[in-house]
Amino acid sequence: MAALGIDFGTSNTAAAVAEQGRPRVIALEPGQSTMPTIVFLDFDRREVLYGSKAAEALIEGREGRFMRSLKSILGTPLARETRHVLNERMTLIDIIARFLAEVKARAEAATGTTFDTAVSGRPVHFHSHAPARDRQALEDLTEAYARAGFRAVRFLPEPEAAALAGGGAGRGLIVDIGGGTSDFTVFDAAQGEVTIRASHGVRLGGTDFDKALSLAHVMPLLGMGAELRKDMGPGTVTAPVSIFTELASWEKIPFLYSADLLRDVRRMERQALTPRLFTRLGEVLEMHLGHDVAYAVEAGKIAANGNRAGAIDLNVVEKGLRPLLAPADLARDLAGFAHEIRQTAAETLAMAGCGPEAIDRVVFVGGSSLMAVVRAAIGALLPDAEQETSEVFTAVVDGLALAAGGAGRD
Ligand SMILES: Nc1ncnc2c1ncn2[C@@H]1O[C@H](COP(=O)(O)OP(=O)(O)OP(=O)(O)O)[C@@H](O)[C@H]1O
Ligand SMILES: [Mg+2]
Repeated sequence: MAALGIDFGTSNTAAAVAEQGRPRVIALEPGQSTMPTIVFLDFDRREVLYGSKAAEALIEGREGRFMRSLKSILGTPLARETRHVLNERMTLIDIIARFLAEVKARAEAATGTTFDTAVSGRPVHFHSHAPARDRQALEDLTEAYARAGFRAVRFLPEPEAAALAGGGAGRGLIVDIGGGTSDFTVFDAAQGEVTIRASHGVRLGGTDFDKALSLAHVMPLLGMGAELRKDMGPGTVTAPVSIFTELASWEKIPFLYSADLLRDVRRMERQALTPRLFTRLGEVLEMHLGHDVAYAVEAGKIAANGNRAGAIDLNVVEKGLRPLLAPADLARDLAGFAHEIRQTAAETLAMAGCGPEAIDRVVFVGGSSLMAVVRAAIGALLPDAEQETSEVFTAVVDGLALAAGGAGRD
């Protein structure tokens, strides 16, 4: 009976097995070590697409429902709401189960092995400061693995998996900043043995960065904060903010495309002092461009972080609409998040009973650990530690494969 290591991520998913005590990452997509955690329900062709095929369906503008950031809904009431899609009653847990079944099938096809158990990563906290939701999220994910066809699943905190894979020597701190959560582990490594001292985490990641940047730089162009004339009498009111916060949140976008909301927005367009902004918003809702906007923000973030002439390309919404996004904007707009990341890292050290001077090296994991604001925040906390960048997208799954293969078993 073989066990498959699966890092089911908010943005990207990876699978790996252990071979002769070493991790081997399985190409879930041709030539790729990860696959995007995306599901597309194609309403015309009545099929479900996964990963980059699902992303292509969005770009082609096919009729259906695109879902990214599914991991974020675990533990929330939304996870268990049933919906009628593709002639079936499905919950979002069912959809996650189908995604995991696809991962299983692809891994089996690539290796010629049947996997009946999974060793899965989990964030230290799916939900920080909400223990009941946190427990529920793990139950939801366990259920999804069972429905995906795994007989059993064992969970390992994601940063602990990364620590197992890292090896090295001395006392280290894993800083794993992904799409949905930030996770930390203090560990000691000596002669190939890794001892975990403490792990901690916070529900905060790259998708929160995207949301903050969207609210600051894009949503005002679609009517956020704009004034509407009152139905009766003189004066104005501000457009309701909830549309904009939801449109800026990856996991909420699919639920905004309703005839009712579009009608409301058309009414706002007539009442607005600046109707053009609401014309754009109507276009985004009517043409289902919410994810295109979110992708544009994410691409703008990565470009600005790389010090390239950053801008958010909103050509799909209106020709030539391209708000600038400079590295200084990132530093300012994401300062609160950077502070929280630093704070949580400091708490992890306290839990491990050591001060900053005791950490020899910091190992960065996760796509959002590439953000300069994150590096600066951790650098300020641990000025003397060496900084290493792991295989940011596969360090976690490497460790899960080692655990699946027997190493690190508790
Ligand atoms: N070059 C880059 N610079 C900055 N951020 C990046 C870069 N590449 C990817 N990201 C961001 O990294 C995040 C995805 O990272 P990763 O794949 O590690 O997350 P994940 O494992 O899916 O999520 P989680 O572990 O939180 O569930 C996204 O928010 C993405 O925008
Ligand atoms: Mg991750």
